[in-house]
Amino acid sequence: MDVNTVAVLGAGTMGHGIAHAAMTAGFATVLYDVSQAQLDKGKSAIDAVIQKGVELGKVSAVDATAMRGRLRLATVVADAVRDADIVIEAAPEKIDLKLSLFREVEAAAPAHAVLASNTSALSITEMAAVLASPGRMGGMHFFNPVHRMKLIEVVRALDTSPETVATMEAVSKRMGKETVLVKESPGFVTSRINAMIGNEAFYMLQDGVASARDIDKALKLGLNHPMGPFELVDLVGLDTRLSILQYLHRTLGEKFRPCPLLEQHVRDGRLGRKVGKGVYDY
Ligand SMILES: NC(=O)c1ccc[n+]([C@@H]2O[C@H](COP(=O)([O-])OP(=O)(O)OC[C@H]3O[C@@H](n4cnc5c(N)ncnc54)[C@H](O)[C@@H]3O)[C@@H](O)[C@H]2O)c1
Repeated sequence: MDVNTVAVLGAGTMGHGIAHAAMTAGFATVLYDVSQAQLDKGKSAIDAVIQKGVELGKVSAVDATAMRGRLRLATVVADAVRDADIVIEAAPEKIDLKLSLFREVEAAAPAHAVLASNTSALSITEMAAVLASPGRMGGMHFFNPVHRMKLIEVVRALDTSPETVATMEAVSKRMGKETVLVKESPGFVTSRINAMIGNEAFYMLQDGVASARDIDKALKLGLNHPMGPFELVDLVGLDTRLSILQYLHRTLGEKFRPCPLLEQHVRDGRLGRKVGKGVYDY
């Protein structure tokens, strides 16, 4: 299918990054949010990334103007998706919110439009099940920050059609990204492995195997990870990590039981960089 217009739902951390990637790829891009303040913030963040590209000589002034001209902002779902060939949802990680959003989207989007969710760990099959045409739904799991991270996990739910997979892969490629195809399963490839490593790091800290700094240092210098597991969880948010682990524990079993030391950090309000203290103090 030829894709000309991309609608992105949610203008937060991921949504504005996805919209920027769509604008860079040359798509007419619509960014939707329930909050005008979030839309304004998202637009400023996109402008800043484009401006940085100009300063670094990666984007010409002419291209920057053309890119900015491709963006439209919307605060009404039906208006946001009316011309969309693909809708990429990056709203909060709450299943009920996503289910009602996709119901609304299906009622207003063109019949040919592909519907994709950027969920980190929720079930795409569950989202597809509320649609009259579940074959049009799949997952596109981007990484933060979108403009720097090369990968998109393309997720095939139970009913996702081959045409939907092909469209998601083609759009990813136009955005300059690499893809891996993942069958729907909790946490896909990356969140599942990442949660496992991060949880194991907390068990090691709890057991006194090594200090947090030394565990981070060991993974960086010994295993070539760009960040240590504690540096990373402080960035992601300990509460976010805990909720991912609780979900993986429920769906995949005992090996994902959240470490008591992680739970204790969350109870203590040590949620990571966003509050100035996590495993480390900032
Ligand atoms: N942050 C990450 O590193 C990351 C990485 C990959 C995937 N994800 C997933 O992407 C999604 C968005 O995460 P985020 O970190 O960008 O969240 P965020 O909180 O930064 O942004 C969410 C945005 O959605 C808006 N919103 C609220 N209700 C909405 C609705 N009904 N319709 C549309 N928008 C609505 C909010 O105003 C906010 O601007 C989640 O599903 C998350 O799991 C996040």
